[in-house]
Amino acid sequence: MLTTTTAAPRFDVLFGAHARLEPADDGVRIWARGANVVLRAPGEALSRALARLADGGATEDALTAELLLSGDPAALFSLVGILRFLDERGALQRRALLDERPLATLTPASSRFRFDAAAAVEGSRKLSRFAYLRTVDDALCVESPLGSATVELHDARAAAVALALARPCSRDDLDAQFPELAGAPLAALLTLLENARALVDADDAEGAAPPDGGSSSDWWEFHDLLFHMRTRRGRHDAPYGGTYRGNSGAPPPLVKPRLAGETITLPRPYAGTTASANEERPFTAVLHERRSLRTYGPEPLTIEQLGVFLYHAVRYQAVREGDGFEHAVRAAPAGGALHELEVYPVVARCRGLDPGVYHYRPLEHELTRIAEPSPLFERLLDDAWTTANRESPLNVYFQITARTRRVFWKYESMAYALILKNLGALYATMYLVATALDLAPCALGGGDSELFAALAQLDPCEEPAVGEFVLGSRA
Ligand SMILES: Cc1cc2nc3c(=O)[nH]c(=O)nc-3n(C[C@H](O)[C@H](O)[C@H](O)COP(=O)(O)O)c2cc1C
Repeated sequence: MLTTTTAAPRFDVLFGAHARLEPADDGVRIWARGANVVLRAPGEALSRALARLADGGATEDALTAELLLSGDPAALFSLVGILRFLDERGALQRRALLDERPLATLTPASSRFRFDAAAAVEGSRKLSRFAYLRTVDDALCVESPLGSATVELHDARAAAVALALARPCSRDDLDAQFPELAGAPLAALLTLLENARALVDADDAEGAAPPDGGSSSDWWEFHDLLFHMRTRRGRHDAPYGGTYRGNSGAPPPLVKPRLAGETITLPRPYAGTTASANEERPFTAVLHERRSLRTYGPEPLTIEQLGVFLYHAVRYQAVREGDGFEHAVRAAPAGGALHELEVYPVVARCRGLDPGVYHYRPLEHELTRIAEPSPLFERLLDDAWTTANRESPLNVYFQITARTRRVFWKYESMAYALILKNLGALYATMYLVATALDLAPCALGGGDSELFAALAQLDPCEEPAVGEFVLGSRA
């Protein structure tokens, strides 16, 4: 039977990055995430306590003892008020010490964070499957998408405790394994990890089996929850939205530079094309008739149908200048009008167009033929055919990529989420245009980005494949 150690955790409190002390008229001003309070004539003891908070920190006990001894009881009330002011704005750090040297520091990631000094660290605990370690500005940090704080590990022994916590450990196990940290330092480290929501009960199944009355996070996979929490606001106060983080210059151009390869001018609507390519249904009928269709007619898609489809769904109708950069007008909306999405028709069967990989030039309404059929080309089409339920042999598969830097240049925290939302808007437009033209459209839910990067010779970080869509003649 395990016994538990009862040493109480001890922390220093100190100003976080969002707190600042500055001189004000006959006193000091304390800033916390944009809010401030002014203390008039704070007195020597309180000034010293504030200076310690701003530079290095001290335990709350040490600060209060000093103020009590100073014979200025009002100063004690002021300090308690200031600590609360900082804490309620997520501007106060807590630091665990080992032999007066930093062991680990908790920094709130949001003003919603509330520190619980009594957070349970008894019993057997382990790292949550959502907890992760990463470097931030040369520091090693533990975080969790379920939490709202970062714990920086300053000492290799703190990192070793995190390693031990990959498996369930009681306080006694840890005290025995790390005698130099035993007692208060270990208690403080565990309390910090607990406050960052990095620890769970040892017997917490954490989604190991399909939940049956379990916790609401059980169904989430690690990467989905991190992506969700980090690309929305609420659990972090990181710069968010259109911050123009690439302030250093202009974004990559709206129109992707022309790739090497033969140019094919595509047919346009109402320009001597076949009647079927121009037979459009009323919009309300399109809305009612739109379906995912994977079975094609005996005759494949024609270059006229492909041209008219791309003309309505993907072409740039106009290019505008605004805020010092170019943006496009397109049937599909796009965040910031940046239009980072590129469309590559991968043609298996299309009357009037040789099989191969093409890049669509949305301004000129042209194709550039960038790759011949090859084993990689066959694999890509085979994967797509499998994803589309293996109904008809594919006609045209659209690989959609994102020129990420156009979006990363402007947006922060939510840039990739925005790309996927733009993709959804493009999918919807492609569905509706295909339905209006009496074609068979179907979006696909995923694909092999590395395969397309190899086929089209694209850098998978610069311009990754993010979406896929198939189109054929209607049965
Ligand atoms: C984002 C998205 C991903 C999809 N992924 C696939 C897929 O991988 N394979 C497939 O055959 N259909 C896929 N579909 C089509 C859906 O299965 C289809 O929309 C759904 O069954 C509803 O049918 P409907 O589109 O005819 O209304 C996808 C649709 C969307 C919007």
